Amino acid sequence: MRILMDEKGRKYIAHNEEFHTNFGFIKKEDIEKGMPGDVLKTHLGHKFKVLKANINDYIDLMERKCSIILPKDIGIIIATTGIGCGDKIIDAGTGAGATALHFGNVVGEKGAVYSYEIRKDFAEIAKRNIEGFGLENVHIKCKNILDGIDEENIDLIFLDLPKPWDVIENARSALKVGGYIATYTPYIEQMQILHKVLKKYEFTNVKTIECILREIEVKNKGTRPKTRAVGHTGYLTFARNL
Ligand SMILES: C[S@@+](CC[C@H](N)C(=O)[O-])C[C@H]1O[C@@H](n2cnc3c(N)ncnc32)[C@H](O)[C@@H]1O
Repeated sequence: MRILMDEKGRKYIAHNEEFHTNFGFIKKEDIEKGMPGDVLKTHLGHKFKVLKANINDYIDLMERKCSIILPKDIGIIIATTGIGCGDKIIDAGTGAGATALHFGNVVGEKGAVYSYEIRKDFAEIAKRNIEGFGLENVHIKCKNILDGIDEENIDLIFLDLPKPWDVIENARSALKVGGYIATYTPYIEQMQILHKVLKKYEFTNVKTIECILREIEVKNKGTRPKTRAVGHTGYLTFARNL
């Protein structure tokens, strides 16, 4: 997928059709011919650079009807659980498919992601999103994960749904020895229940973290943390199956 980036770094999908903005329009034939690296000009002379979308560009622009896990949190999930090429991952719920896309990107062609989504309309959006990015190793399943996990020998089970503790018993039998469970919960009370249930099912290395990101603004006047920031996303709880 190609995108167009304006002089301020704003991104737009480059559909093969005439492109209209507040800065003028670009002709359909120019858009069709535009290759990554090319600069296209609107009829008013404003420049747009053609880029091949990377996974973050794609997720920023794809269709979605629910919140998604942000890069700051997905990065920590990937690094903490050490997932990599060839691994098998369960992801639930799918939502728009952002986490499924990131996991699919990391495990590569030799790995697989099985993503469970209870809502048919969301599962369909996620399927379109995954196909649009061209990943063949991500399998969207329209299924309530509480009804059971079909796969075994899993390296990571990631849960982003309201009551993740209800999945822990089934998760234990689906996980490899040494495999991880990781959950994302917005509230402390959810995280406290999780700790109790993870210990009940004898998971080890149970820990919760919160990632607080502070961007620094560099201006002529001075350099300081941005005054506007995301205050809180969620608590990330990790545990290992031994
Ligand atoms: C916040 S969204 C997940 C977002 C996703 N992690 C992402 O980054 O794109 C939570 C999803 O879980 C789904 N869900 C809730 N309970 C579920 C269950 N028991 N089984 C499968 N999916 C479920 C909801 O329908 C919703 O789409």
